[in-house]
Amino acid sequence: MYVKVKVPATSANLGPGFDVAGLAVTLYNTFTFELTDGPLEITGCPEQFANEDNLTYQAFKKAAKQVGLEYHNVKIHTKTEVPFTRGLGSSSTCIVAGIVGAYALMDRADERKEILNLATEIEGHPDNVAPAIFGGMTVSVVEADYNVTTLSLPVKHDYRFVALIPPFTLSTEKARSVLPEQLERKDAIANVSHLALMVASIINGYDHGLKLGFKDRFHQPYRGQLINNFFPIMECLEKDEGVLGAYLSGAGPTIMALIKAEDTKGVVRIKDELGDLIKGWRVEKLELDT
Ligand code: HSE
Repeated sequence: MYVKVKVPATSANLGPGFDVAGLAVTLYNTFTFELTDGPLEITGCPEQFANEDNLTYQAFKKAAKQVGLEYHNVKIHTKTEVPFTRGLGSSSTCIVAGIVGAYALMDRADERKEILNLATEIEGHPDNVAPAIFGGMTVSVVEADYNVTTLSLPVKHDYRFVALIPPFTLSTEKARSVLPEQLERKDAIANVSHLALMVASIINGYDHGLKLGFKDRFHQPYRGQLINNFFPIMECLEKDEGVLGAYLSGAGPTIMALIKAEDTKGVVRIKDELGDLIKGWRVEKLELDT
């Protein structure tokens, strides 16, 4: 038995929506799962991940138990496009693929709510796994026992996402470790208001609300200090009238800038404006995966 699972890259937080909001983009990791009588085989990933601790395998194993899939062993092959540890949800692709792989082998891949709950339990937050499972732009609420409610937003306009991907990595663990345990009420109110404005602007196509809507006080001020040139890059993007909004993608270090689809010169313009600030960085123009 053999199944193939293709999972999109995701960009989480969307500025103020820390651990809540996320979106899927057109960059993919593809996984195949084949049940076997032989040993565990994991191919297509760096040698140090080709073992029992492999995240895709761990997710597959947990899902197989939950869904009652009986098997001796599995061969997992991975083909990756999503850059690793860059804030584009590469870990979520592994988690979602492992779970969907096991569910698909039981012909239950359409049980998305169960898949989402388990994926959130493994990842610890829903903002990457939810858009990876449902596509588009999502907001999620997690209740007790990883009971997740996710809503896909109707995105009114056709946007492009310019991903500024640095050559260096930043682990989510490190990026979470610098966050304060407590926030001031004024910062909490600011973030709630920005998130509400951002979501309402996306739904209504109110592009003028996005620059303010994507602003954040929960995590970017702290994580920005771990990322070379983060603050000058954000300042420069703020001044570009074609950039509708910009934010740190997930835990970083990738920075995401939103432009309109018809702004065909946007990428060249942004690269010119940022110049040496993004020397050696990869720039990808992505679409929303729906
Ligand atoms: N919401 C998570 C964080 C996303 O910002 O830590 C990590 O991918």
